[in-house]
Formats: sequence, structure tokens, C-alpha cells
Amino acid sequence: MSKKILLSGVKPTGRPHIGNYFGAMKQFADLQNDYECYFMIADYHALNHIQNANDMKENIFGVALDYLAIGLDPEKVTIFKQSDVSAHTELAWMFDSITTMPYLMRAHAFKDAEAKNKEISVGTFNYPMLMAADILLYDTDVVPVGQDQKQHIEITRDTAEKFNHTFGADVFKLPNPLIVEGVATVPGIDGQKMSKSYNNTIPLFATDEEIEKQVMSIVTDSSGGRPENVYAIHKLFRAEAELASLYEEKKGKYKDLKEALIEDIKAFIAPLRARREALAADPSAVERILVDGAARANIRASAKLADAKRAIGVL
Ligand code: TYM
Repeated sequence: MSKKILLSGVKPTGRPHIGNYFGAMKQFADLQNDYECYFMIADYHALNHIQNANDMKENIFGVALDYLAIGLDPEKVTIFKQSDVSAHTELAWMFDSITTMPYLMRAHAFKDAEAKNKEISVGTFNYPMLMAADILLYDTDVVPVGQDQKQHIEITRDTAEKFNHTFGADVFKLPNPLIVEGVATVPGIDGQKMSKSYNNTIPLFATDEEIEKQVMSIVTDSSGGRPENVYAIHKLFRAEAELASLYEEKKGKYKDLKEALIEDIKAFIAPLRARREALAADPSAVERILVDGAARANIRASAKLADAKRAIGVL
């Protein structure tokens, strides 16, 4: 029996943080043997933020290294760059044509940007259509993501149904999100959602100095009990049963608890960081993985794009 299909992606917009890891990327590694997997570097999505060729190149290489360093095995899974598979942008155009502006105006990301009075690019507005194309081109069954992407998966499902219904053809399969309880929204050092744009992250490949600095900056209240923001991050690295005695013993001793967290994060990150550094030493090996991944992704994506073209009557 053939395996179910799993697809997900990360935008190359800078260094990943432990929220990206626990919320999504860890699931990529954990599930890679159970599904036929596609892991994308969402470079065209990143173009809304990264508008400098050197930064883009560096960030793309960075996500490829991140994927390999967390243990994705390119022999088993397909790792590819979105821009290498032009079916993504072609299909996104078809979806643009069957989707209304008011529908997309309900997207959280658009509403947040609008509320902040940001200048919104057309690409940012259409973002969910490109993401729907990413997912639907591969007959994807599951999409491991954090909570912030849930609405995008719902939009993807709506778009698949709308296309199938409009053209009277069963072209697209409806995917399901895979959001793991407890890590759906990993908090940052200020207790808000961890996010590059809030400046509250602990980078996944942080140096020891960065780990110390960020943990020491975790916002704590002075109620004397358990420092919730420290605990919320600590439970990602150590079982809650073990933490219970530590937090009881060190009740009110915030500095000691932060030091214990620093040690746990360092122990976790050190081997990941070492693996990433070793991989970075051979850029041509990484390049070969992406070329090979693009070829594999293109096979599936171009077949599905042809189905969509036939359904709309251009082929
Ligand atoms: P991106 O690059 O912003 O984030 C990558 C993944 O990390 C998750 N994440 C979090 N999870 C828990 N807690 C947090 N604080 C946290 N911050 C980020 C995100 O939910 C995401 O799963 N649109 C996507 C990229 C994308 C994609 C796709 C994903 C493009 N096409 C197709 C899946 C399928 C994004 O911006 O992720």
C-alpha cells in the first residue's frame, strides 16, 4: 500500500527559532518514515519580506541546512525550493481567478497587517493562494504546522472544493492540518507567541551566549511562585514530571530556574548546531540535494498541474 502524503514548508526569512522547531519542524523529522514527504523552502513566499538577492540566497541555503541538521534524510524525503517548481505559481494564478477579494480579506495575516496600517503587497494579500497551490499540487493528506497556519489550511480546503465544484472535476484532494497540542503556539521570552517579528525568540541554532542572554531576559513576574514564562519554555526540553520536583525545590528562585533551563537548552542545541556547521562545510552537497528534490517534486506537481489545466480547458 502506498504511503499517505505529507507536505510542509518553512519561509527562508532568517534564522528559525525553537517555536518553528517544536511547533512544526520536529514533526517533519518524527514523521518522515511514516509518510511520503515533501519539505519545501518557501522562497516565493519569503519574497514578500526578503528583497535582496544575497540575503535570499543565504536564507535559502540556511533552511536547507536547517532541514538536514534536524535530521531530515534526503534519501527518504524530498527537499525542494518552491521557485524550482513553477507549477506552484501557475496554479496559484488559477486559484486567484476563482477567489474573491472579500474572501481573502478575512485572512488573519491580511487583517493583522491592515490593522497595523502596513503597506500590503499584492503578494502578501494572495499569500494563501500560493500556499493552497503548494499543498494541493501534491495530493497532500497532512500538513504539519503551528496554530498560526491553521486558517491557511482551511483556505486551502475551501479553494480545493471551489475549484472541483466550479470545473466539475475531482482534481484536488482535501488536506488536513497536523497541529500538535501543547506546542501549537510556542511562547517567546515575553510570553507572547514566539515570532521573529516580536523579537522574542530563542534561535534553534543559538550559540551558548545567545541562549544565556535570551533565557536571562525571559520576563518573570514577582509573585514568588512558578515563573510561568520560564516553565512554558522549559517543558519543551524536559518532561513535566521531572520539572515538578525541580520547580518545587527552587520555588521563587527564578535565577536558579533560569540557569537550569539554560543548561537544558544548551545540551539540546549543541549537537544540532554541530551537525549544521558540518553540513555547511559542503555547499555543493546541499545544492545537489535541492536539484534532486526539485526533479522529484516536479514530477508530481506537473502531473497535477496538467489535470488542473485540462479541468479549466486550456489543455
Ligand atoms: P513559517 O516559515 O512562518 O513558519 C514555519 C513553521 O513554524 C510554525 N511556527 C510556530 N509553531 C508554534 N509556535 C510558534 N511560536 C511558531 N512560530 C512559527 C509555523 O506555524 C509553521 O508551521 N506559510 C508558512 C510556510 C508555508 C507552508 C506552505 C507551510 C508556505 N507554504 C505549505 C505548509 C504548507 C509559514 O509562513 O511558515
